[in-house]
Amino acid sequence: MIKPLIAGNWKMYKTPSEAELFALELKKIPQQNDRDVLVCVPFPALVGVSRILKDSGIFVGAQNVYPAKEGAFTGEVSPLMIKDAGASFVICGHSERRQIFEETDQFISEKVKIVVDCGMTPILCVGETLQQNEEGKTFSVVESQLKIGLQHISSSLINNVVIAYEPVWAIGTGKNASPQQAQQVHLFIKRVLEKIYGGSSTMVRVLYGGSVKPENIDELMSQPDINGVLVGGASLKIESFSRIVSFKKN
Ligand code: PGA
Repeated sequence: MIKPLIAGNWKMYKTPSEAELFALELKKIPQQNDRDVLVCVPFPALVGVSRILKDSGIFVGAQNVYPAKEGAFTGEVSPLMIKDAGASFVICGHSERRQIFEETDQFISEKVKIVVDCGMTPILCVGETLQQNEEGKTFSVVESQLKIGLQHISSSLINNVVIAYEPVWAIGTGKNASPQQAQQVHLFIKRVLEKIYGGSSTMVRVLYGGSVKPENIDELMSQPDINGVLVGGASLKIESFSRIVSFKKN
């Protein structure tokens, strides 16, 4: 049985004080043992939010990392800093980083590796653009992002990685992939992982992301190969995020 993971991605929203107030609200959500809950917060909020959520059972993560333990990289944040600040997960290769900051699969693979090396869990994001989708390239794009993104991860470590399938055309657009469409790609991702890692990858969680909201969470989570969600906009309000966290399978 794979334990589902419900992850919020706050992106560049919430100052540290707003984040801490929100964390106090999050703590009031009744925790259920059959699911993990995570919030990926902006760097300046990591310490404060982690202190508040310590012992709450809710995990805290970062949204990015620089792939070096330390060094002369002005303005960047290292995995050791993130870990010491209280994070146990790091989003790697989010489509906004790929598109706006031109991150390549190669660079992202270094991030995935260092996050695992430092004892945290990377959430490797993959997904096709609208154009790639319309050209029928979804599977080939996702396969290549997975193969390169995971190139430094051996079979003994693959279970320390989470994958998030986030079709770019569904992010922040209100237009989600239908649960059946998402299920198809999730199944494909599991097959690719199996091809690379054999039986070692059966417990890898594959999350869906892209316009997840209270209205579609139950149906998404009812798909056999959707093991959780990565939620942007709807994770910023306590009412919508608590509804998503308390999903029920149909
Ligand atoms: P969204 O974002 O839920 O606002 O579409 C998802 C994400 O970017 O991870």
